[in-house]
Amino acid sequence: MAVPPIAPPTRLLMGPGPINADPRVLRAMSAQLVGQYDPAMTGYMAETQELYREVFGTANEATLLVDGTSRAGIEAALVSLLHPGDRVLVPVFGRFGHLLVEIAQRAGAEVHTLSTEWGTVFAPEQIEEAIRAVRPAMLAVVHGDTSTTMAQPLDALGDICRQHGVLFYTDVTATLGGNEFESDAWGLDAVSAGLQKCLGGPSGSAPLTLSPRAVEVLDSRRSIEAGIRDDHSPVRSDPIRSNYLDLAMILDYWGPKRLNHHTEATTMLYGARECARILLEEGRAAAIERHRLHGDAMLTGVTGLGLSTFGDLEHKMNNVVGVAIPDGVNGDAIRGELLTDYGIEIGTSFGPLHGKIWRIGTMGYNARRDAVLLTLAALEQVLRRAGAPVTAGGGTGAALEVYGAAA
Ligand SMILES: Cc1ncc(COP(=O)(O)O)c(C=O)c1O
Repeated sequence: MAVPPIAPPTRLLMGPGPINADPRVLRAMSAQLVGQYDPAMTGYMAETQELYREVFGTANEATLLVDGTSRAGIEAALVSLLHPGDRVLVPVFGRFGHLLVEIAQRAGAEVHTLSTEWGTVFAPEQIEEAIRAVRPAMLAVVHGDTSTTMAQPLDALGDICRQHGVLFYTDVTATLGGNEFESDAWGLDAVSAGLQKCLGGPSGSAPLTLSPRAVEVLDSRRSIEAGIRDDHSPVRSDPIRSNYLDLAMILDYWGPKRLNHHTEATTMLYGARECARILLEEGRAAAIERHRLHGDAMLTGVTGLGLSTFGDLEHKMNNVVGVAIPDGVNGDAIRGELLTDYGIEIGTSFGPLHGKIWRIGTMGYNARRDAVLLTLAALEQVLRRAGAPVTAGGGTGAALEVYGAAA
């Protein structure tokens, strides 16, 4: 079958991620391959580890990339750190909390959950009380859940976990680079992320970091594959249940031993390295401030159009806003018109919010003034055509006021 070369339509991706990749990342990803033990490649790997230590705010030696989308990073952390039968506590405040539950269950853990209404987050005291009751081996919590646009405050949870001897894992896929996050200062033991949100890259690589405490757990579970182990290597009857996502073996591959495991996804590594370079050139604080500014402009803009927002705004992530679909308006039809007439994508929503809110993102390469204003102008037009009562010029006008005040 003859098919033409890839020529994707021009799109402005203003959903909850993925977003348009930064052109610098795409250029880095078009570089030629080198062998996985070429000194150039081991150099790139070491540089990428160093860059992500800074991105995460950590001194953890065990900082690396898991090859796969963010979900691979989550699964690697949970399947490697939880023994079957271990208790894990998961506070669920959206779809991705349910994903942690699902993955931990499949890893054989005994999962306990805490729930709160979508659009809200937990007070640290609620989590501490549950830790006292459940006595888990691990607390696993999403930082920013794109399904509800909420960010769970994590800064007080590290001390609580230390006091109770609990490992502390979080998924920062949706927040890293655009919202405050400090792995070491907040006492995290395991953190996993992805590139396709505030880091401005494609999905397919999951940066991950592990504290020395987490590495100790892995050391107690390390089992080396036949064919590469020597006579002194441990062989365990209960190895980590995934081979591909076995962090003990992945660490040996990234560490000084360079023990063979998978073949590093070189092109993704080039992309992940460039994402971190871009973020650190801008500065972590400046990037967070940029996400806050454009997130505020979008929020103020949709309100200026006369639309209502979703959830507890005090805990909203900087980079995505939930917008109530006005009564009588077909949310999917509006999304379809934005895409076909303006080339702009905004997000639908899941579960209890499906058909009730859109999710509009301002992140990574698209956390920009022109992207915000264009989206608000197009949204006004398609809503007007659908007969929704929107304030003429109210969206862009309100956003411009935010930019004026910031100038
Ligand atoms: C908070 C969070 N975790 C995990 C994921 C899953 O990421 P991926 O699709 O890259 O596996 C997403 C994707 O939207 C997310 O927002």
